[in-house]
Amino acid sequence: VNRAAWRGRRVLVTAGPTREPLDPVRYLSNASSGKTGYAVAEAARRLGARVTLVSGPTALKAPAGVRLVPVMTAREMLAACLKTLPSTDLVIGAAAVADWRPATLSRTKMKKGRGAPVIKLVPNPDVLKALAARRRKGKPVTAGFALETSSLLANARRKMREKGLDLIVANGPEALNGDRTRAVLLTRDGRSHPYAGPKAGLAAKILSTAEAFL
Ligand code: C5P
Repeated sequence: VNRAAWRGRRVLVTAGPTREPLDPVRYLSNASSGKTGYAVAEAARRLGARVTLVSGPTALKAPAGVRLVPVMTAREMLAACLKTLPSTDLVIGAAAVADWRPATLSRTKMKKGRGAPVIKLVPNPDVLKALAARRRKGKPVTAGFALETSSLLANARRKMREKGLDLIVANGPEALNGDRTRAVLLTRDGRSHPYAGPKAGLAAKILSTAEAFL
């Protein structure tokens, strides 16, 4: 990496799951640990970037020197990202955003004893796609992830195109927890770079690959 290219750059990272409430004590969510996004935020900070980490609930501590913006729902995540977007040079969408949320939020705890409830879901915003759609002259540089259980590379390439990304990190479900991962980094110019190793190394690889687009 060229450290001079990173000093003072503004990097926005989304991380963790989102949590979509059903009632005051229940929610829909997923198994994302947030580790990859936090590793990316830390790596960017170490390169000298100014990092905002918009994160759903995780068990992790924000890396030193990183501005943490905690959020719960997908809609809160989008709103928080839109606030910092205008001054952002690079967006990395590592969050596992819930694709759906309950259509209604019960103000009181849902009661047992009236039969099992049927929960209607409605689609959440695609945070990364919404951010990419606001780009002007290709800025900010935008990167995302594709977690696929089949046709990994083909599906990841399609997502890169459909969401309008410069770079996508394709990985399998084994990436979800743990500290190690295997991935292939695909860029919009058609290159691919395989990676296997700790998530901290993947974070460094994502940044060195994104640097070419800064
Ligand atoms: O479409 P899919 O969920 O597979 O795309 C994954 C990528 O899109 C990740 O980078 C994820 O952070 C982002 N995403 C998002 N908002 C969603 C769904 C996915 O930002 N609602």
